[in-house]
Amino acid sequence: MRTPTGPDPACPPGQAPVVVLFGFMGAGKSAVGERLAHALGVPYVDSDDEIVAGQGRSIADIFATDGEPAFRALEHTVVARLLTRPGVVLALGGGAAMHPATQALLRAHPCTVHLAVSLPVALARCGDDPTRPMLRHPDLATLHARRTAAYSELATHVIDTDRLDADQVCRDILQVLADRPTHRSHPDSTRRHPPGSG
Ligand code: S3P
Repeated sequence: MRTPTGPDPACPPGQAPVVVLFGFMGAGKSAVGERLAHALGVPYVDSDDEIVAGQGRSIADIFATDGEPAFRALEHTVVARLLTRPGVVLALGGGAAMHPATQALLRAHPCTVHLAVSLPVALARCGDDPTRPMLRHPDLATLHARRTAAYSELATHVIDTDRLDADQVCRDILQVLADRPTHRSHPDSTRRHPPGSG
């Protein structure tokens, strides 16, 4: 987990999502994201939904017709655009945070939450979902381990969702947001108002 920072010049407040959620399939990103957006009174945006709307076809169809590399390139383009959408809750598809250029963008964001899930719980939650082509990956254990390490390294906060329902995870994230320091002053303000200067 990286240290949460103040506003990054590459990701100024008001010009980026309030919070970005990512994690493995079955982590509950959509369920939590919808609840969180509702609680905050802001729009909920899901990168998979945006891809489907933009392409006019399903994720499974894009994988089957164009292949995974084409899907990942498209996904990065969409996610890079969504990361500049102000004031929304943004949930990313399970593989989106693995793209190197997306990772660079996520590192500039002040509040990124990894919804962690163990592989058995993820598989139990997803079932045999035909809309998720990556469930047929030949080595899900390695995929899950590699991604989990990368998600955690990218995130400012990690929440283990295995024993929590979506409402509880939502409450935890609201607490994270409430606990964040506000950044009312300009970073140079200490120089402009040194101690004792009034
Ligand atoms: C994927 C996860 C899916 C979707 C696509 C690829 C992945 O999203 O983006 O099927 O690589 O893990 P969810 O994590 O919402 O299922």
